[in-house]
Amino acid sequence: MSQPQLIIFDTTLRDGEQSPGASMTKDEKLRIARQLERLKVDVIEAGFAASSQGDFEAVKAIAETIRDSTVCSLARANDRDIARAAEALKGAARSRIHTFIATSELHMEKKLRMTREQVLEQAIQSVRFARNLTDDIEFSPEDGYRSDPEFLARVVEAVIREGARTINIPDTVGYAIPELYGTFIKTLRERVPNSDQAIWSVHCHNDLGMAVANSLAGVKIGGARQVECTINGLGERAGNCSLEEVVMAVKTRRDYFGLEVRVDPSQIVPASRMVSQTTGFVVQPNKAVVGANAFAHASGIHQDGVLKARDTYEIMRAEDVGWAANKIVLGKLSGRNAFKQRLQELGVQLGSEAEVNTAFQRFKDLADRKAEIFDEDIIALVMDESAAHVQEHYRLVALAQRSETGERPRAQVVFAAGEAEVRTEGEGNGPVDAVLKAIESKVQSGAELLLYSVNAITSGSTESQGEVTVRLQHAGRVVNGVGADPDIVVASAKAYLSALNKLQSRTERVAAQG
Ligand code: KIV
Ligand code: ZN
Repeated sequence: MSQPQLIIFDTTLRDGEQSPGASMTKDEKLRIARQLERLKVDVIEAGFAASSQGDFEAVKAIAETIRDSTVCSLARANDRDIARAAEALKGAARSRIHTFIATSELHMEKKLRMTREQVLEQAIQSVRFARNLTDDIEFSPEDGYRSDPEFLARVVEAVIREGARTINIPDTVGYAIPELYGTFIKTLRERVPNSDQAIWSVHCHNDLGMAVANSLAGVKIGGARQVECTINGLGERAGNCSLEEVVMAVKTRRDYFGLEVRVDPSQIVPASRMVSQTTGFVVQPNKAVVGANAFAHASGIHQDGVLKARDTYEIMRAEDVGWAANKIVLGKLSGRNAFKQRLQELGVQLGSEAEVNTAFQRFKDLADRKAEIFDEDIIALVMDESAAHVQEHYRLVALAQRSETGERPRAQVVFAAGEAEVRTEGEGNGPVDAVLKAIESKVQSGAELLLYSVNAITSGSTESQGEVTVRLQHAGRVVNGVGADPDIVVASAKAYLSALNKLQSRTERVAAQG
């Protein structure tokens, strides 16, 4: 017998992207949106169209491309934002406008400087306005969990009457405790007379590390039928509820939740890799489901048990969540067609045949240096290729470095800065330090290095490409740059230049919680 469905609403491209340093280009968002569609999430929150021209373009491109998931844009509760969202979503097969306004005393008084009655009226007016543009409207009372339940119930009842189909109750600051949050949703639903005319949704932040537990309690105790979540739990501060954990909890404990999810779990690991490679937010090894150690059994007793009967220590199968996809896909002898087909399978669309040719040439160069090429290698290569294609201001041209025991490492770097070619030299504590100092001596960005990390793109071999993340802070902005290469010093130079490019492109955008 089929079970009721739990709607998976992914907000990696909106709430996830709000994480400092996680901002993505339109092409990167489009690539991730295609992967989310392959993952079969029900709703993709593609961005906040009114926040910047860049966000508008990204939502528009995603709406015009995605056919199998509903595409959603966030909008503050005002006519301008809502009209802008509707405009960006025009080309979508199925679209949703997600409008929000804060309802907690703290937010209304200190942030909005509005009275309860004004907030109620604005919520009503905005849903009424949105109702003329679409029939799929979601309403969120921001900081809902810290709002007065009696006032919250009045707002929710009113917006359902105006036509909101989904009511999302955010725990905006990650303050909730599972049992209390679940009961909060349940009591609220009981208080709202027309609650059966909407789908109830949960949206939890992870400040106390309970976003997944709270969301699941909202489902089990509160009766919510939509969960808002992000790949790898990406998001501001401690992040959002993690999609992979919620989905696998509901699938693995179907006996308890009694719900179906449409998500194809075999696409989870590829989605996780794509998001971490794109944003530079590395997944911790012991992260549930998608961490490198999630299925590794180090202890002899566990290994013995798993070999005799897998379910002695494993409650999910690694291949079911897509770990098997991490396989050798191409090698030195693979031809252009095989390469092109794999790009298609990975959802990568390179603009012209000339771009495919350049990417193929880079693939051949890589295959000469590295016998086994994995999906992750191809994604890194394509990211490099699209950076070159959009003519990033700074680009690495060549690099030489020398380090010897007992000697201070030295580096010579040639990089492009727009049309100019810059030659520079430097020395440092190590080869990476020497390269970064050499570049900085010419660029003089004055940026503070917040993070430098190196990871093997594919585990298990020193032949793997190194993936370097560099996080820089300057004038109140935080950006991440990612670079990949079998030589980690080269990868570091690429990552540093990529972060400098992001610092250069200063697009103004309105904060969702602003
Ligand atoms: O956390 C939050 O309150 C939000 C809303 C804008 C839905 O992200
Ligand atoms: Zn949020």
